[in-house]
Amino acid sequence: MSSSLISSRNALAKATELHAKASTDFATKLAETQALLQRAAAEFAPVVQASSLGAEDVVITHLINSLPLDIPVFVLETGALHTETLALLERTQAHSLAPIHVFRPVQASVIQFVRDKGQDAMYQSMDLRKACCGVRKLEPLARALTGQRAWITGLRQEQSSTRAEVPLLDTSEENTKNLAKFNPLARWTWGDVWHYIATNQVDYNPLHDQFFPSIGCAPCTRAISLGEAFRAGRWWWEDETAKECGLHVKK
Ligand code: ADX
Ligand code: SF4
Repeated sequence: MSSSLISSRNALAKATELHAKASTDFATKLAETQALLQRAAAEFAPVVQASSLGAEDVVITHLINSLPLDIPVFVLETGALHTETLALLERTQAHSLAPIHVFRPVQASVIQFVRDKGQDAMYQSMDLRKACCGVRKLEPLARALTGQRAWITGLRQEQSSTRAEVPLLDTSEENTKNLAKFNPLARWTWGDVWHYIATNQVDYNPLHDQFFPSIGCAPCTRAISLGEAFRAGRWWWEDETAKECGLHVKK
């Protein structure tokens, strides 16, 4: 294959070129998001951003840094993330104005879980998959949210049918974490997210260039094919309605 063909294929695969397309009301949405983040910092401190380092989350961290706002960021480093995600974490820690706090699972719990249930337990049953998420994500999440009044996530309504009603600010009782939850990109489209990344030259996870729209732990994330749903690559062996790890499940 000629080098020009290879480079044109690479250029074609760039997520920024494939997806960046602002909605007609993008400027309004951006202003709404900025105002919401300012309100979170002014009225809901201490408030923290939860970042998986996915496309939505790098946009939010970029907004926090550019406004700038006194909002730290936390990443749940499950011990099962892709090397690309870990490399982006390092770069973000080096360049972000907002502090980036990393929460890891209790090592003894992970060792015990793997010893008892096996390295591939998540594929065996939903209960075991949820138990793994419990050890690697939910316990560290509880620590990350301790002492906070609010948290900020990258949830968007467009991501799945179960997220279609995600509000910009969630203070509902069934919000299990008992904190106000800001979803400042709730109304953004995938095109809006990539328009922001492209125009602001935001650093992003290169897995997005390899057809991974939604990125979680390596054993539980795969690339999607043309026409597949946004979250089809997450826990792909499970039922569509079960694709939540517990971070955002309501009571
Ligand atoms: S998940 O529940 O299926 O894992 P998803 O990957 O769509 O969630 O991410 C939704 C939001 O949850 C992200 O925008 C981010 O706010 C938060 N989140 C997900 N994974 C992590 C993580 N590893 N660390 C911190 N926050 C995360
Ligand atoms: Fe475990 Fe997969 Fe959940 Fe990550 S997403 S914590 S590897 S089951």
